[in-house]
Amino acid sequence: MESNAAALLLLAQKHNLMSTTSHTADTIQIRDLTFQPLFSESEVQERVAILGLALSESHKGRTPLFISILSGAFVFASDLIRQFDGDCEVGFVKLSSYQGTRSSGDVQTVMGLEKDLAGRHLIVVEDIVDTGRTLHFFLDHLQQQQPASITTVAFLRKPEAAQFDVPVEHVGFDIDDKFVVGYGLDYDGLGRNIPGVYQLLEK
Ligand code: IMP
Ligand code: MG
Repeated sequence: MESNAAALLLLAQKHNLMSTTSHTADTIQIRDLTFQPLFSESEVQERVAILGLALSESHKGRTPLFISILSGAFVFASDLIRQFDGDCEVGFVKLSSYQGTRSSGDVQTVMGLEKDLAGRHLIVVEDIVDTGRTLHFFLDHLQQQQPASITTVAFLRKPEAAQFDVPVEHVGFDIDDKFVVGYGLDYDGLGRNIPGVYQLLEK
């Protein structure tokens, strides 16, 4: 047992030295940027459980198809579907519109859905609604395939950044218009594995 604990400690120390993401008591550093805590892991999990409950109620007996927008929403989607009480299917779509901390303004489908969506109850799962461009584009695309219903769930939303009027039935948290990482959201590829949410510290 003891040598096991020592080995784990060594591994942890080695990991810290090798990681480009360093953690101090309450801020984290990712590449050139410093972030401060916004929502803890337990606050996130509590909110996701409530969203799952709401969807279980509204989609009782419907076998919805959850469509997770990759890459950012995969963490949220994986927790959300496990809070869904009932039969459901899961699909993924890859869209991209973001480079660094600014939207490139150009949304494209990179990897589509193979499933027939006609007559299906769809639950679109997005990590964050910023300008709303990504969802606006994607919801339009889905409507054309004549699903029975579309319900949109976003883990985060930045109301001040809205440029497109998109219907989002369920929102985890409305936040200030500041860049965030964690819980699937990245800064130049890093930070997706952080269990809580961190906000850019502006100096
Ligand atoms: P929108 O199309 O402007 O609404 O941007 C939505 C997409 O931009 C999200 O799916 C994220 O991938 C990305 N994004 C927007 N804001 C942030 C942020 O604060 N951190 C990380 N990614 C973000
Ligand atoms: Mg995204």
